[in-house]
Amino acid sequence: MAQDQLTGAKVAEHNSKDSCWVIVHGKAYDVTEFLPEHPGGQKIILKYAGKDATEEFDPIHPPDTLDKYLDQSKHLGQVDMTTVEQEEKAFDPEEAERQERLKLMPSLTACYNLMDFEAVARQVMKKTAWAYYSSGADDEITMRENHAAFHKIWFRPRILVDVENIDMSTTMLGTKCSIPFYVTATALGKLGHPEGEVVLTRAAKTHDVIQMIPTLASCSFDEIVDAKQGDQVQWLQLYVNKDRAITEKIVAHAEKRGCKGLFITVDAPQLGRREKDMRSKFSDTGSDVQSGDSNVDRSQGAARAISSFIDPALSWKDIPWFRSITKMPIILKGVQCVEDVLRAVKAGVDGVVLSNHGGRQLETARSGIEVLAEVMPALRERGWEHRIEVYVDGGVRRATDILKALCLGAKGVGIGRPFLYAMSSYGQAGVEHAMQLLKDEMEMNMRLIGASRIEDLNPRLLDTRGLMGGHSGVIPSDTLGLRAYDPLEAPRFNEKAKL
Ligand code: LAC
Repeated sequence: MAQDQLTGAKVAEHNSKDSCWVIVHGKAYDVTEFLPEHPGGQKIILKYAGKDATEEFDPIHPPDTLDKYLDQSKHLGQVDMTTVEQEEKAFDPEEAERQERLKLMPSLTACYNLMDFEAVARQVMKKTAWAYYSSGADDEITMRENHAAFHKIWFRPRILVDVENIDMSTTMLGTKCSIPFYVTATALGKLGHPEGEVVLTRAAKTHDVIQMIPTLASCSFDEIVDAKQGDQVQWLQLYVNKDRAITEKIVAHAEKRGCKGLFITVDAPQLGRREKDMRSKFSDTGSDVQSGDSNVDRSQGAARAISSFIDPALSWKDIPWFRSITKMPIILKGVQCVEDVLRAVKAGVDGVVLSNHGGRQLETARSGIEVLAEVMPALRERGWEHRIEVYVDGGVRRATDILKALCLGAKGVGIGRPFLYAMSSYGQAGVEHAMQLLKDEMEMNMRLIGASRIEDLNPRLLDTRGLMGGHSGVIPSDTLGLRAYDPLEAPRFNEKAKL
């Protein structure tokens, strides 16, 4: 044992609120004074007081977190990990069953569409990870509507068009890409895969698609940029900090590192309530109450904790400032009505993403595709359709969904959860397979619609009458989606309860 290394026993002495040390990646940290400041509350740290917290720490914190936020004087140095007591994990029957399912997983080639990945992920992902990714706001109506809304639009294909050669390549914010979708920003990639977001970076490279880097990634921003290859293009999704100096630094750094677009999230001044997520984390509510730790905002789970820096005062007044600090194109992500799109054009931004944040924010907000159908005619009326690029995300699972968005006038669509599910179940190969499936579907469907190039897609290829009835009409549901959908649960009674 090197002389200057700490022993596990020494660290274990500091196992209380009065003196709290934790081990992360083989190093000890004194977090006693930091306890009240921890955005996730004290309780979760105290659970690991005097112990190795690496496994819990990793998905939620980018690796540079401790350097950034914990004073160097509290970095206590290397621990001889051979002296750290390995904790016997209590037997968890649910986890044991999951391990069994992992051994019996369908092969990757058995996944024929994006929904298949969701069905597999639901069975093989860790419960808390699945709950975080798959949950939506309140009753999850908007989340499901995002997908269902595509079913309100039908095609009016043209025949006898020469569709021997299909070219589905396009440009987004001036960048050429192989197909009009991008990997949209989603938080906490390491919940699903130990390597996190860089897996998506590599798959995006393979398929020549753009990746949007999330502010709340598990990997650090630089790790995700370092993982890009050649002239691969990345954008930055930005949560705006109350401290604008921090935001300015993040934006300047992203520009310096070559990001080609700044997507400012505008639909999340506060994070929505995702009950599936909350329930999975705090199944032991009874003991939470008894522990009396009122410090934790238990009602919101990890997402809330990691997003407490977001500035709810962000407003239109800030847009000129963003213009002044960057040359990157600026896109507002999470715009949800015509009025705001028109205002965005006037504010001089370069694009909007019509999005409701994957149904995770305002419940019964309309789907992006429905808003798009309202927005494009309003832009065309004013001759403004080329002043701004319009993107849509939410619920895209099929190339027919992408085609519908493009026919209406979107420049491209963002896809988030499906790639997380593919990554969580099958790693990089899974994400690549998911992207290939979309390409195969896209080629076939462009042929069947009678469009050989992206430029050929237009609103006349669609029957949008299903959207006219607003939300009064009945819409078809699809069995793949229903099977993959994980219903919400009621509170659980103690297992001894006779119900
Ligand atoms: C979410 C945030 C963090 O939806 O984007 O969970």
